[in-house]
Amino acid sequence: MLAAKLSTRAVMSASRSNAIRPMTRGLATPASDLHSKQVLDAIKNRRTHYAIKPESPISDQELATIVGEAVTHVPTAFNMQSSRAALILGDKNKQLWDALWKSNSESIPEQFRADARKKWDSAYFPSYGTVVFFEDEAVVADWVSKMPDFSKLFPEWSANGTGMLQMTVWAALSNHGLGASLQHFPQMKEANAVALREVLGTPENWVSTAVMPFGKAVAAPAERSYLPLEDRFQVIA
Ligand SMILES: Cc1cc2nc3c(=O)[nH]c(=O)nc-3n(C[C@H](O)[C@H](O)[C@H](O)COP(=O)(O)O)c2cc1C
Repeated sequence: MLAAKLSTRAVMSASRSNAIRPMTRGLATPASDLHSKQVLDAIKNRRTHYAIKPESPISDQELATIVGEAVTHVPTAFNMQSSRAALILGDKNKQLWDALWKSNSESIPEQFRADARKKWDSAYFPSYGTVVFFEDEAVVADWVSKMPDFSKLFPEWSANGTGMLQMTVWAALSNHGLGASLQHFPQMKEANAVALREVLGTPENWVSTAVMPFGKAVAAPAERSYLPLEDRFQVIA
């Protein structure tokens, strides 16, 4: 409703003012409620899935298109395009999770290892594939050197950029019935980051920000609680 009001207001002011016409040039069609609903439905349908199996309802080519389109179109600060991603499939995916288990489980105390293994056997090992997200630290460092006043902000913007990319890929995958989760093994432990780089052969300046194992969802996601919206969102006019 609010979106409908806002878009009506924007259209009305656009028709009154010549000044904003050039900005609207090139837009294919104005946003409609239907489009907003589709976008929001994709966001709502995205959930964390820890029970998956190694199948995909869509082809590897379609998976690659989803990740490639997301990398291309998700925004980054100053359009610095520091975000990177890799789609890991087939044998490489198996190698990746074997290597991560090896490097990660070493630090799990013996008495917790069996429980951890159960989770890995449900959520990570049976993945059809994994999207690995990175930020190119060389790109971020370059922007810091060009704009030193923003030296603290560029790393934040880089983190924001990869977060936007992760969310976009996650929502797009879930839209096809794929269950995924967001994991941070390479961020939690340097040995995991090294293991990941060894398996994937990615450049050193590609610093991993998250890994997203995905597969066909085999169980409903866990219940999720929501704080009252009025505590988290205001319309201020
Ligand atoms: C920035 C971020 C980091 C997260 N890190 C992890 C993680 O390391 N491991 C994990 O299992 N889930 C992780 N999650 C998933 C959240 O726990 C989950 O999204 C949240 O509890 C809401 O549940 P839902 O995804 O089913 O809606 C992360 C989510 C976000 C947004």
